[in-house]
Amino acid sequence: MIGDGAGEIDPEDLDLPLDDTGGDDDEETFTELLAFVEDELSFATSHYNDSYLDRRVSSRMRRTQCDTYEAYFELLRQDPAEQEALLEALSINVTGFFRNPDVWEGIRTVLRRLSGNGPVRVWSAACADGREPYSLAMLAHDDPEIDESSVYVLGTDISQPALETAREGVYEESRTIDLDEQLSFLDDYRRYVDVDGRNYRIADDVRTNVRFQRHDLINDEPKSGFDLVVCRNLFIYIDNAYKRSMLETIARSLRSSGYLVIGKAETIPPNLQSAFAVREARLRIYQRAESSATDQ
Ligand SMILES: C[S@@+](CC[C@H](N)C(=O)[O-])C[C@H]1O[C@@H](n2cnc3c(N)ncnc32)[C@H](O)[C@@H]1O
Repeated sequence: MIGDGAGEIDPEDLDLPLDDTGGDDDEETFTELLAFVEDELSFATSHYNDSYLDRRVSSRMRRTQCDTYEAYFELLRQDPAEQEALLEALSINVTGFFRNPDVWEGIRTVLRRLSGNGPVRVWSAACADGREPYSLAMLAHDDPEIDESSVYVLGTDISQPALETAREGVYEESRTIDLDEQLSFLDDYRRYVDVDGRNYRIADDVRTNVRFQRHDLINDEPKSGFDLVVCRNLFIYIDNAYKRSMLETIARSLRSSGYLVIGKAETIPPNLQSAFAVREARLRIYQRAESSATDQ
């Protein structure tokens, strides 16, 4: 989903953009439409890459049976319900517990390495509804080589509704979200999650060291002193110009030699590669260089 805040993927969301057959007129209307969304609906379209925006708009066009950007733009201007539907479609909040399990084996190794030398400060940046920060905390509890009492997790996101769900720590199973499967990364996840019918509630002792806060990676200040930053599956949607500043914010938030994990389909832009040493290329695990371009 891209969708309703709970992690479902609607088959419509996987569709490709509509064929761009209208040439310059279409391009102009699409640009005007994006300006409308930015100025009137207060969604910063300029931060995202065009192919992502086009996929989301095209998906709404199919749903509303509009064949051209012009017809859809007209509908959007007239219909507040469609404005809301488009804003919902534009919010990228797909997530899951232990998403990409192989990466979580890499994160386990990093946490083991960090454990035993005092407090371990972990930042799950762009954490959506909290399943990523809770996965970090559960992993710390589950692994005998990690001292869970020393692991502190901060989850941040730009979306207040996502953070509300995260603070509640209750997730609902549905036809398309198999929480049991997601959590089966752990041998016995019921030690950390209370299951009541379709509701999965994160246990209090897992929540003890997990905090949530609103933070915008583009406009807000860096943080400091983190041993590990996990920022996954946001850069794929972001325009290159902003991607760099987000990664600079993250680099400044890491202590020197601190670790960074990005999404499996994401890359560090060439001009920032000197700031991060590659630790596990396939898993996208990096370590902040001792002194880097971002220090200047
Ligand atoms: C696809 S989710 C990724 C969630 C999680 N990291 C994962 O990989 O499962 C992307 C998240 O980025 C958040 N986001 C979008 N723009 C942001 C920004 N400028 N600063 C912080 N978070 C942002 C969205 O609200 C969304 O929750």
